Amino acid sequence: MRILVTGGAGFIGSEFVRRWLTSEPTAHVTVLDKLTYSGVEENLASVARHPGYRFVRGDVCDPDVVDQVTAGQDAVVHFAAESHVDRSITGAGPFVHTNVVGTQVLLDAALRHRVGRFLQVSTDEVYGSISEGSWTEEWPLAPSSPYSASKAAADLLVLACHRTHGMDVVVTRCTNNYGPHQFPEKVVPLFITNLLDGKNVPLYGDGRHIRDWLHVSDHCQGIELVLRGGRSGEVYNIGGGTEVSNHKLTGLLLDAVGADWDRVTYVADRKGHDLRYSLDDSKIREQLGYAPRFPFAEGLAATVAWYRDSRSWWEPLKTGGARG
Ligand SMILES: NC(=O)c1ccc[n+]([C@@H]2O[C@H](COP(=O)([O-])OP(=O)(O)OC[C@H]3O[C@@H](n4cnc5c(N)ncnc54)[C@H](O)[C@@H]3O)[C@@H](O)[C@H]2O)c1
Repeated sequence: MRILVTGGAGFIGSEFVRRWLTSEPTAHVTVLDKLTYSGVEENLASVARHPGYRFVRGDVCDPDVVDQVTAGQDAVVHFAAESHVDRSITGAGPFVHTNVVGTQVLLDAALRHRVGRFLQVSTDEVYGSISEGSWTEEWPLAPSSPYSASKAAADLLVLACHRTHGMDVVVTRCTNNYGPHQFPEKVVPLFITNLLDGKNVPLYGDGRHIRDWLHVSDHCQGIELVLRGGRSGEVYNIGGGTEVSNHKLTGLLLDAVGADWDRVTYVADRKGHDLRYSLDDSKIREQLGYAPRFPFAEGLAATVAWYRDSRSWWEPLKTGGARG
């Protein structure tokens, strides 16, 4: 299968590309990535010599480059996005441009070149916040931040392309990911790297916000299952089943590096902060055999170890201050 992976130099996209090329010696993957602040081409160094690998630096909003890289593809796996909620609160423009306009540019090219399947990588944040129970795929979209609103808009454009043009599309909506190669502005790598540097960590509000954590490798397993076997025009939730408050997560990370609560600075809550995310992912489990493999405690310990051993990766990226 020849696939175009947008945003393949980012945290999740690079895991997907490494996994795909490692498991399939005859695979062909073209990565289209603008290499924004969160894109790191070195994330793909381990597969750079694979004969089926090609890297193109370019913008998903640029119709010319998108047209060139889309021709001849069997599938598009669309990760490229502005992905950090805090940045969307201080400046929504790039989120609308990349996440909404960029998705439509890709859809137009995929339609023109009759690409076999378009997979939109989305997020549970499009559903908003839920105090009790869990979202199924039928839940109405009620995004809270400019980031999640731009992802919801993109999801709707993708699904509209199916209804209008009959394009083969699938949408995945995943919970919060953690793992190696995550840009150190998001909460897990920000806290780990701050603690390793002897600095304090900034905890929003009272830390009662609940997230459902999933290892990045399990997310990519889910994407692969949907790419290969998902039903056209449908949405698949990908969950972790590990709901943890930010307070508890902070405690686990402090323990992992041997630090105390005096290293925590409580800061004013994020504007419009969603209280709880919780996905019902029985559809992908029952229909496609999805089952996350990384227990949270093990995955988190491995992630802390990776950051401890990979200072040369994160030190140059670290700007400090932002949180995910
Ligand atoms: N991180 C999570 O917990 C999570 C959870 C669910 C879904 N998602 C979704 O997964 C996708 C990837 O997220 P991530 O955490 O890996 O993000 P990331 O910020 O680490 O990576 C984004 C990648 O997209 C590239 N990019 C950004 N704008 C681009 C543009 N205009 N043209 C081409 N490339 C561009 C960046 O250079 C980077 O390599 C996003 O669509 C995000 O919404 C993320």
